[in-house]
Amino acid sequence: MSPKEQKAKVKQVLEKHRHDKSRLVDVLQDIQAAIGYLTKDALQQASQGLDVPLSRVYSVATFFKAFSLTPRGRHVINVCMGTACHVRGSDKVLESIEKKLKIKRGSTTKDLKFTLETVNCVGACALGPMVIIGEDYHGEMTPEGIVPVLEQYK
Ligand code: FES
Repeated sequence: MSPKEQKAKVKQVLEKHRHDKSRLVDVLQDIQAAIGYLTKDALQQASQGLDVPLSRVYSVATFFKAFSLTPRGRHVINVCMGTACHVRGSDKVLESIEKKLKIKRGSTTKDLKFTLETVNCVGACALGPMVIIGEDYHGEMTPEGIVPVLEQYK
């Protein structure tokens, strides 16, 4: 998406929320949904459009884990690091993914295919180690087993 298209999308979001500063979180959520992540320009535009200081916009954007200030991959991988998954070896599964994708947790592959993150318990402890890719839950994962799973994602 070009910077011009991004600007137009952010404008639409601001209009949808009637430039209401009390809806800052919703505005940022919608901007992220519309353009993929919160760019510097989008945050600036939100600050001006809502008449909220840029520092406040940044503090909200960095406070919530759901917001991303860097590009995200098409598929977000979440490795569960909760206690039950951890004792079953989720750290080794995470290491295997890091090795396979050549990235560390919290980052995105250069081709923007995957973003790798961790979570703490997704409520399926009996099936741990759990790896969630997008909406798909993959249980009883092993360092070897995750490799062909990753290859299924285009
Ligand atoms: S600890 Fe991983 S699902 Fe509960």
